[in-house]
Amino acid sequence: MVVQMENFKAIQYGRESVIRQLDSYQESTRDVLGNIRRLLFDLRGEPAEAMEFVPRLRRRLREYESRYAISATLRVSANWPRQLAAQAAIHLSSIVEEALSNARRHGGASRVNVSLSVAVGQIAVLTVKDNGRGMELLWGESAGLGIIGMRERVLLLGGELQVLPTTPRGTVLKAAFPKERLI
Ligand SMILES: Nc1ncnc2c1ncn2[C@@H]1O[C@H](COP(=O)(O)OP(=O)(O)O)[C@@H](O)[C@H]1O
Ligand SMILES: [Mg+2]
Repeated sequence: MVVQMENFKAIQYGRESVIRQLDSYQESTRDVLGNIRRLLFDLRGEPAEAMEFVPRLRRRLREYESRYAISATLRVSANWPRQLAAQAAIHLSSIVEEALSNARRHGGASRVNVSLSVAVGQIAVLTVKDNGRGMELLWGESAGLGIIGMRERVLLLGGELQVLPTTPRGTVLKAAFPKERLI
Protein backbone atom coordinates (compact mmCIF):
# COMPACT_ATOMS: atom_id res chain seq x y z
CA MET A 1 0.00 0.00 0.00
CA VAL A 2 2.83 2.38 0.87
CA VAL A 3 4.40 1.78 -2.53
CA GLN A 4 1.09 2.08 -4.38
CA MET A 5 0.43 5.40 -2.66
CA GLU A 6 3.92 6.57 -3.58
CA ASN A 7 3.21 5.79 -7.23
CA PHE A 8 -0.15 7.51 -7.03
CA LYS A 9 1.56 10.58 -5.52
CA ALA A 10 3.84 10.74 -8.55
CA ILE A 11 0.86 11.48 -10.84
CA GLN A 12 -0.60 14.13 -8.51
CA TYR A 13 2.06 16.65 -9.50
CA GLY A 14 1.13 20.15 -8.38
CA ARG A 15 -1.78 19.02 -6.21
CA GLU A 16 -0.16 19.75 -2.88
CA SER A 17 -3.17 19.05 -0.68
CA VAL A 18 -3.70 15.63 -2.26
CA ILE A 19 -0.01 14.82 -1.86
CA ARG A 20 -0.06 15.91 1.80
CA GLN A 21 -3.10 13.74 2.43
CA LEU A 22 -1.37 10.76 0.83
CA ASP A 23 1.73 11.44 2.96
CA SER A 24 -0.41 11.13 6.03
CA TYR A 25 -2.04 7.89 4.77
CA GLN A 26 1.42 6.47 4.17
CA GLU A 27 2.43 7.50 7.66
CA SER A 28 -0.60 5.76 9.18
CA THR A 29 0.04 2.64 7.14
CA ARG A 30 3.63 2.50 8.41
CA ASP A 31 2.39 2.97 11.96
CA VAL A 32 -0.01 0.06 11.58
CA LEU A 33 2.82 -2.08 10.17
CA GLY A 34 5.02 -1.09 13.11
CA ASN A 35 2.29 -2.00 15.59
CA ILE A 36 1.70 -5.38 14.00
CA ARG A 37 5.41 -6.08 14.14
CA ARG A 38 5.68 -5.14 17.80
CA LEU A 39 2.71 -7.38 18.52
CA LEU A 40 4.36 -10.27 16.70
CA PHE A 41 7.60 -9.57 18.53
CA ASP A 42 5.80 -9.82 21.86
CA LEU A 43 3.97 -12.96 20.83
CA ARG A 44 6.86 -15.01 19.57
CA GLY A 45 10.11 -13.08 20.00
CA GLU A 46 12.46 -11.99 17.21
CA PRO A 47 15.61 -13.68 15.99
CA ALA A 48 18.59 -12.47 17.99
CA GLU A 49 20.68 -11.94 14.87
CA ALA A 50 18.60 -8.87 14.02
CA MET A 51 20.44 -7.05 16.80
CA GLU A 52 23.79 -7.97 15.34
CA PHE A 53 23.46 -6.10 12.08
CA VAL A 54 26.96 -4.59 11.89
CA PRO A 55 28.94 -7.73 12.85
CA ARG A 56 26.86 -9.80 10.46
CA LEU A 57 27.40 -7.32 7.65
CA ARG A 58 31.14 -7.38 8.35
CA ARG A 59 31.14 -11.16 8.09
CA ARG A 60 29.10 -11.03 4.91
CA LEU A 61 31.55 -8.59 3.30
CA ARG A 62 34.52 -10.81 4.18
CA GLU A 63 32.76 -13.74 2.59
CA TYR A 64 31.94 -11.66 -0.53
CA GLU A 65 35.58 -10.56 -0.72
CA SER A 66 37.02 -14.03 -0.57
CA ARG A 67 34.40 -15.56 -2.81
CA TYR A 68 34.58 -13.05 -5.65
CA ALA A 69 37.99 -11.45 -5.13
CA ILE A 70 36.33 -8.04 -4.88
CA SER A 71 37.70 -5.85 -2.14
CA ALA A 72 34.89 -4.84 0.23
CA THR A 73 35.17 -2.34 3.07
CA LEU A 74 32.75 -1.20 5.74
CA ARG A 75 32.78 2.15 7.52
CA VAL A 76 30.43 2.68 10.43
CA SER A 77 30.15 6.05 12.09
CA ALA A 78 30.17 6.22 15.89
CA ASN A 79 26.59 7.51 15.98
CA TRP A 80 25.14 4.63 13.95
CA PRO A 81 22.46 2.97 16.16
CA ARG A 82 23.77 -0.05 18.07
CA GLN A 83 20.58 -1.99 17.83
CA LEU A 84 18.25 -1.99 14.88
CA ALA A 85 14.64 -3.07 14.79
CA ALA A 86 14.49 -6.59 13.37
CA GLN A 87 12.52 -5.51 10.34
CA ALA A 88 14.90 -2.64 9.58
CA ALA A 89 17.88 -5.01 9.79
CA ILE A 90 16.21 -7.37 7.34
CA HIS A 91 15.44 -4.57 4.87
CA LEU A 92 18.94 -3.09 5.11
CA SER A 93 20.58 -6.50 4.67
CA SER A 94 18.52 -7.19 1.56
CA ILE A 95 19.33 -3.77 0.11
CA VAL A 96 23.06 -4.30 0.66
CA GLU A 97 22.82 -7.81 -0.79
CA GLU A 98 21.20 -6.52 -4.00
CA ALA A 99 23.73 -3.69 -4.30
CA LEU A 100 26.63 -6.14 -3.84
CA SER A 101 25.15 -8.41 -6.46
CA ASN A 102 24.68 -5.52 -8.91
CA ALA A 103 28.22 -4.25 -8.34
CA ARG A 104 29.57 -7.68 -9.20
CA ARG A 105 27.20 -8.80 -11.97
CA HIS A 106 26.51 -5.54 -13.79
CA GLY A 107 29.41 -3.34 -12.73
CA GLY A 108 32.20 -5.88 -12.85
CA ALA A 109 33.62 -3.93 -9.91
CA SER A 110 36.89 -4.76 -8.18
CA ARG A 111 36.09 -2.68 -5.11
CA VAL A 112 32.96 -1.98 -3.05
CA ASN A 113 32.72 0.45 -0.13
CA VAL A 114 29.79 0.21 2.23
CA SER A 115 29.15 2.92 4.77
CA LEU A 116 26.65 3.46 7.56
CA SER A 117 26.38 6.92 9.04
CA VAL A 118 24.03 9.36 10.65
CA ALA A 119 23.90 12.81 9.06
CA VAL A 120 22.54 16.06 10.45
CA GLY A 121 18.88 15.92 11.34
CA GLN A 122 19.18 12.31 12.51
CA ILE A 123 19.14 10.97 8.97
CA ALA A 124 20.63 7.49 8.82
CA VAL A 125 22.44 6.89 5.53
CA LEU A 126 23.51 3.64 3.92
CA THR A 127 25.77 3.95 0.90
CA VAL A 128 27.18 1.24 -1.32
CA LYS A 129 29.74 2.50 -3.79
CA ASP A 130 31.42 0.42 -6.47
CA ASN A 131 34.16 1.12 -8.99
CA GLY A 132 32.52 -0.79 -11.82
CA ARG A 133 31.56 0.29 -15.32
CA GLY A 134 28.66 2.41 -14.10
CA MET A 135 25.06 2.40 -15.17
CA GLU A 136 24.42 2.86 -18.85
CA LEU A 137 20.93 4.26 -18.58
CA LEU A 138 19.64 6.94 -16.31
CA TRP A 139 18.32 5.71 -13.02
CA GLY A 140 14.57 5.33 -13.38
CA GLU A 141 14.75 4.18 -16.98
CA SER A 142 16.90 1.29 -16.03
CA ALA A 143 15.17 0.02 -12.93
CA GLY A 144 14.88 -3.74 -12.95
CA LEU A 145 13.33 -5.92 -10.28
CA GLY A 146 16.35 -5.49 -8.03
CA ILE A 147 16.12 -1.71 -7.93
CA ILE A 148 12.32 -1.80 -7.63
CA GLY A 149 12.67 -4.14 -4.65
CA MET A 150 15.26 -1.89 -3.00
CA ARG A 151 13.01 1.10 -3.54
CA GLU A 152 10.09 -0.72 -1.92
CA ARG A 153 12.15 -1.62 1.13
CA VAL A 154 13.44 1.94 1.46
CA LEU A 155 9.90 3.30 1.20
CA LEU A 156 8.65 0.92 3.88
CA LEU A 157 11.26 2.41 6.20
CA GLY A 158 10.11 5.91 5.28
CA GLY A 159 13.32 6.71 3.40
CA GLU A 160 14.60 7.72 -0.01
CA LEU A 161 16.77 5.86 -2.49
CA GLN A 162 19.18 7.26 -5.04
CA VAL A 163 21.39 5.39 -7.46
CA LEU A 164 23.93 7.66 -9.11
CA PRO A 165 27.10 7.52 -11.17
CA THR A 166 30.27 8.30 -9.29
CA THR A 167 33.71 9.54 -10.37
CA PRO A 168 35.98 8.49 -11.91
CA ARG A 169 33.75 5.50 -12.62
CA GLY A 170 31.22 3.31 -10.90
CA THR A 171 27.88 3.55 -9.18
CA VAL A 172 26.81 4.71 -5.77
CA LEU A 173 23.61 3.69 -4.08
CA LYS A 174 22.44 5.93 -1.29
CA ALA A 175 19.52 5.10 0.99
CA ALA A 176 18.55 7.70 3.61
CA PHE A 177 16.10 7.15 6.47
CA PRO A 178 14.90 8.99 9.53
CA LYS A 179 17.06 7.31 12.20
CA GLU A 180 14.12 6.62 14.50
CA ARG A 181 12.63 4.37 11.83
CA LEU A 182 15.52 1.96 12.15
CA ILE A 183 15.47 1.47 15.90
N1 LIG B 1 26.22 -1.34 -9.71
C1 LIG B 1 25.84 -1.31 -11.00
N2 LIG B 1 26.75 -1.11 -11.99
C2 LIG B 1 26.39 -1.08 -13.28
N3 LIG B 1 25.11 -1.22 -13.71
C3 LIG B 1 24.16 -1.42 -12.79
C4 LIG B 1 24.47 -1.47 -11.39
N4 LIG B 1 23.30 -1.67 -10.72
C5 LIG B 1 22.35 -1.75 -11.63
N5 LIG B 1 22.85 -1.61 -12.89
C6 LIG B 1 22.05 -1.60 -14.14
O1 LIG B 1 20.69 -1.41 -13.82
C7 LIG B 1 19.91 -2.50 -14.28
C8 LIG B 1 18.83 -2.81 -13.28
O2 LIG B 1 19.36 -3.37 -12.08
P1 LIG B 1 18.40 -4.21 -11.16
O3 LIG B 1 17.17 -3.42 -10.91
O4 LIG B 1 19.15 -4.65 -9.94
O5 LIG B 1 17.96 -5.44 -12.03
P2 LIG B 1 18.68 -6.85 -12.30
O6 LIG B 1 19.89 -6.94 -11.40
O7 LIG B 1 17.63 -7.83 -11.95
O8 LIG B 1 19.04 -6.79 -13.75
C9 LIG B 1 20.90 -3.63 -14.48
O9 LIG B 1 20.45 -4.52 -15.46
C10 LIG B 1 22.15 -2.90 -14.89
O10 LIG B 1 22.11 -2.58 -16.27
MG1 LIG C 1 20.05 -6.53 -9.51
